[in-house]
Amino acid sequence: MIYITRRLEFCASHRLFNPNFTDEKNETTFGLCNNPNGHGHNYVLEVTVKGEVDPETGMVLDLKALKKLINEEIIDKVDHKNLNVDVDFLQDVIPTAENIAIHIWDILKPKIKNGELHEVKLFESERNFVVYHGVSVERPH
Ligand code: NI
Repeated sequence: MIYITRRLEFCASHRLFNPNFTDEKNETTFGLCNNPNGHGHNYVLEVTVKGEVDPETGMVLDLKALKKLINEEIIDKVDHKNLNVDVDFLQDVIPTAENIAIHIWDILKPKIKNGELHEVKLFESERNFVVYHGVSVERPH
């Protein structure tokens, strides 16, 4: 088994808040990311696929195809967008790095046929990132 990673970048804005919280609780919970008029992040997304090397190509998969898939399914939908309102797969979701990574996993998982999705890593800043490996049981919605 070998692991192969594609790194991509996108810029997006968001505001973290829970409509069921008071303004004060939203501010203490989400801090700077609760800024009422939003703010931006330069996100870095790393998608890792695992598989066996095809002896005829020496590769696990075609990285160009993986890049195209991630661009079409994810990057084109989030880059230069407001994550609270513009993104179909984040409707009714608090757009934290955690939730974005989970939704990216759920979208890509069934679409990766050569090899198997192993990890979604999402950097919201240089120092803050989340890693998701999926779940083995159904997640309640
Ligand atoms: Ni933020």
